[in-house]
Amino acid sequence: MSDKEYRIPAHVAIIMDGNGRWAKKRGLPRTMGHAQGAKVVEQILEDADHMGIRYLTVYAFSTENWARPDSEVTALMNLLRTYMKTSLAKCAKNNVRIRVIGDKTRLDEDLQKAIAHLEEETKNNTGIGFQIAINYGARDEMRRGIQDLARKVADGTLKPEDIDEAAISGSLDTAGIPDPDLLIRTCGEERISNFLLWQIAYSELYFTDKAWPDFDKEELEKAIDAFNHRERRYGGLVS
Ligand code: FPP
Repeated sequence: MSDKEYRIPAHVAIIMDGNGRWAKKRGLPRTMGHAQGAKVVEQILEDADHMGIRYLTVYAFSTENWARPDSEVTALMNLLRTYMKTSLAKCAKNNVRIRVIGDKTRLDEDLQKAIAHLEEETKNNTGIGFQIAINYGARDEMRRGIQDLARKVADGTLKPEDIDEAAISGSLDTAGIPDPDLLIRTCGEERISNFLLWQIAYSELYFTDKAWPDFDKEELEKAIDAFNHRERRYGGLVS
């Protein structure tokens, strides 16, 4: 990196794609791809933490994913349920702070409770912030945020002219979390799929052909190397 310091992105967001294709290639049911994908999530969280990344956000279930076959939706929800119910001890040990982003009201009540419990129990942890997007869509997040702001205007606690960019950021599920520096998408697709649309305005985008269940620390390091070779200008001039 010549004269420049090697930078670790503070916030990495990941669109974990390719679980189904990974499973199909091996003659396995798609749900086995998701199960392997969930294991990779846990490993990458640990690796990211060790590398000095402060926030990791993963896209686990989109507002559009309800359209998948019931059996697959159930399998994904069960994976998330298991994660919420079993990861507290691990989070305590590793000082991880969990936040679920997305509209939680559509989730089963026991899952909502498990999420609320995990968020509450980890909220004072000072290590890596781990955001899991469940029933998440960026347009839906903005719709909910705008409705909140509109309610405040209607009840007189907010003036329309005070709706600045900070107020909009603060109305989103990611309120208080810095925007991602780096967004990674796996398995060859190069689109954003309604993920963090407001927050990634200046993020560097990195696409890899690796399917999510094959993603590992080495791949994360490659993405961070690529990030280090980008010149971030935020609309300014080359320095
Ligand atoms: C995309 O692959 C992946 C998903 C829709 C689900 C991602 C969820 C997990 C990895 C489990 C989450 C677990 C935790 C603990 C957060 P795809 O099914 O769209 O794959 P395809 O495009 O190859 O069909």
